Amino acid sequence: MSMNTIKNKDDYQNFYKMSLDDKDGFWAEVAGNYTWKKPWTSVQTGNFKDLNVKWFDGATLNITENCLDRHLETRGDKTAIIFEPNDPNGEVINFTYKELHARVCQFSNVLKAQGVKKGDRVCFYMSMVPELLIGVLATARIGAIHSVVFGGFSANALAGRIQDCEASIVITNDAGFRGAKTIPLKEITDEALKTCPTIKSVLVSKRVGEEVNMIEGRDHWLTPLLDSASCDCPAEEMGAEDPLFILYTSGSTGKPKGLLHTTAGYMVWAGETYKNVFQVGEDDIFWCTADIGWITGHSYISYGPLLNGSTQVMFEGVPTYPDAGRFWEATEKHKVTHFYTAPTAIRALEAHGTDFVNKHDLSSLKVLGSVGEPINEEAWEWYNKNVGKEKCPIVDTWWQTETGGIMISPLPNVGDFIPSFAEAPLPGVDPIFVDADGKKVEGSPAEGNLCIRTPWPGMARTIWGDHERYKQTYFSTYPGLYFTGDGAKRDDQGRYRITGRVDDVINVSGHRMGTAEVEDALNQHEDIVESAVVGYPHDIKGQGIYAYVIWNPQSSKAQDHKAIHKELNEMVIKMIGPIAKPDKVQVVSGLPKTRSGKIMRRILRKVASGETSNLGDTSTLLNPEVVEEIKSGAL
Ligand code: WTA
Repeated sequence: MSMNTIKNKDDYQNFYKMSLDDKDGFWAEVAGNYTWKKPWTSVQTGNFKDLNVKWFDGATLNITENCLDRHLETRGDKTAIIFEPNDPNGEVINFTYKELHARVCQFSNVLKAQGVKKGDRVCFYMSMVPELLIGVLATARIGAIHSVVFGGFSANALAGRIQDCEASIVITNDAGFRGAKTIPLKEITDEALKTCPTIKSVLVSKRVGEEVNMIEGRDHWLTPLLDSASCDCPAEEMGAEDPLFILYTSGSTGKPKGLLHTTAGYMVWAGETYKNVFQVGEDDIFWCTADIGWITGHSYISYGPLLNGSTQVMFEGVPTYPDAGRFWEATEKHKVTHFYTAPTAIRALEAHGTDFVNKHDLSSLKVLGSVGEPINEEAWEWYNKNVGKEKCPIVDTWWQTETGGIMISPLPNVGDFIPSFAEAPLPGVDPIFVDADGKKVEGSPAEGNLCIRTPWPGMARTIWGDHERYKQTYFSTYPGLYFTGDGAKRDDQGRYRITGRVDDVINVSGHRMGTAEVEDALNQHEDIVESAVVGYPHDIKGQGIYAYVIWNPQSSKAQDHKAIHKELNEMVIKMIGPIAKPDKVQVVSGLPKTRSGKIMRRILRKVASGETSNLGDTSTLLNPEVVEEIKSGAL
């Protein structure tokens, strides 16, 4: 069987079956699509019990040779990156594969000159500019480990991530453009670095032209260093299981976790899922609107498209600046064929009406994608009708930071494309449902908690510095299975539909947020006695953040709920970033608790969702009287 793209239902069925029946044979053949320095001695070893999973062990490679060097002969002059700036009248910058390769080598040499070595952690805190992508690849080229922190996080959140992975260098911008705003990235970095003793140098890429404070000996402007560096840098020979990157994500408890992805398995997963799910042709133009600060940007900007030699748009701005036609204007301008975005963006644009879409010629589009949260039927229909003109398949791709790449998705030419269905597992993905009692649910139709039964190449191997937490978080709920944290359904034909998180993680505008993390931030306020945060349905964000807080009754603001909300917003912005601001804050005198002192979140979730009848049995509560108060004060 040829390991090229899956083109029809038969291909899909054959590939899928083979991937489970002859896993080693299947992946050995797929891996043949890539360039290796030394071959592997085993395709896959280890299991979910011992959590020692390895893919392509014994092999050596460098992912950037697969993204860049191997295209130079056949695609050297092909455009790799079309940089579309925040300002629609700003300068578009194109990089061919040759130019990108040269720039990456220069950046690698700059990192080396700063003393960065194989295995060191390199932190990026930047806006969506080409230097971010180039720097990420340069880090991988010299065998260092990148940790990209989204430019919307606060100094405190940045510091926590730098401290956790003990990065030695951070790369930032003077400031970043984001719609009508500029974000003072260097200033925020300086604030964070007050508590980050491991950082030895800071490289600053000039974007906005903002005055910044440069600390002698520590801080350096990036451009002059890049310009004087050699365009030649041999790629470090990496072991298949050597770390490639760390990416922090929220969970239901504790601080954000640094998921660790390794080289070979991640590469094969990012490359193959991109190829099969999007089916981007040689002359097509791919555009993923995510930020590289999230996993979607890692797998479907930094790696997947380049592994496949595609041309892609990299966008600095936001969907609604200068107006709600920004995506469609850029789609027309660059003749984008494959467009991948989040439901929250679609809903936000839908609210501005169809004129912004219809003004533009979108006839270049062939495939649309959705990622990050369940897409509701209405948003799906709007996307299909107004953007895809009912001729573009919509790939609703379900996956996670932990999975490294897409796991469940309809494929063009294969899928049935039913709104809100992610449909079918990709080859190598072995899903299983488990019910509340931990029993496996077979057959269809069915519903349950979504687990994965066997290792796949793209899975995260550990949590940086805390393998035990990795084990606890993902593999202890249902021993022997990877638990995703999501609930799902299968219809009578076995097609998958993801229903959302079943744990204390909420999904706000496609961003994962731990309710505990937001509570920790709120509790930093001196007048907060206790808080509980839950998600509730939000028209645009998917889920909004609803905070119940007990406020110090002695405080002068105790009656001024507006002022309380404002102060809490400021606290959350300081501790995490604006994305975690509570949409609603309800001041309460107590939180419903079980006799063992646990907050009954079920009740709080219902009230936040506007469901005040049907609260279930509240008689076992320690303080049933607060339920009435909470109901009557619901926002
Ligand atoms: C949710 C983003 C439904 C899900 C790639 C998952 C989705 C979490 C979908 C991971 C989808 C992502 N349909 N839900 N197509 N895609 N999710 O780590 O709850 O930022 O567990 O990765 O987003 O979020 P993360």
